Amino acid sequence: MKILTKLIIAGAIGVAAVVGFAFSGIYDVSASSSHSSIVTWLLSTTSHASVERQAKDIEVPNLHDDALARAGVNDFNGMCAGCHGAPGQTPEAMGQGLNPPPPDLAESAMEMSPAELFWVTKHGIKMTGMPAWGATHDDDAIWPVVAFMTKLPELDATQYQDLLDNAGGMGHHSNDSADEGHAHDNATSEDTILDDGHTDNDHSERTGEIPPEPEEHDPSTHTH
Ligand code: HEC
Repeated sequence: MKILTKLIIAGAIGVAAVVGFAFSGIYDVSASSSHSSIVTWLLSTTSHASVERQAKDIEVPNLHDDALARAGVNDFNGMCAGCHGAPGQTPEAMGQGLNPPPPDLAESAMEMSPAELFWVTKHGIKMTGMPAWGATHDDDAIWPVVAFMTKLPELDATQYQDLLDNAGGMGHHSNDSADEGHAHDNATSEDTILDDGHTDNDHSERTGEIPPEPEEHDPSTHTH
């Protein structure tokens, strides 16, 4: 009984210390400072073990079909290269500012199984910049990107660009790179975002045309 009381008191002190630490503001949450080595170890070990466990029952389709990998290159370029980089391309500003940094997926593809690559792409990783693409994409749209990632370790910058140039019309991001080939000046990134997410009306505003019926300006609904 005495031991139980001591354990309860020790537990309560432990909980109070954790809660006190959380409220104290002592921990530096900035992305510009690195995690301590113990936090890095804890997070990466937890993350790797979780991915391995969650991915083990995933049924992998035939990824050796070249057409599938070719279909994934536009989507990879549109959805992933900005953060992870691609052969011959460094990550864009957003990717460079993330902590933990987005790894080079050519290396990840050598270390991870296709099922693991699929699971991470679909579900993302909590408290990192890695989004869950499954929130907006069916499995059928994710497997081509996985098939493409398995080819990444063999590709140099020229081969990557050739694949992009020859993949017009494939994947739902096919228009992003179809008309300009070299996808990485600022104007292109802007086009990509606008073409993906905005209405024709937005587009005509951007090109200077007058929208057909200008809406009345209501300050209560204006969010900018
Ligand atoms: C907004 C930035 C961002 C985008 C866009 C992004 N990722 Fe990530 N991704 C990350 C970050 C950050 C990590 C590292 C997470 C960590 O360290 O636990 C990561 C990790 C991964 C990993 C695990 C790699 C490893 O070695 O553990 C895979 C696989 C991955 N991303 C695939 C993709 C794919 C495929 C796409 C596009 C469909 C994509 N990512 C788009 C930020 C991004």
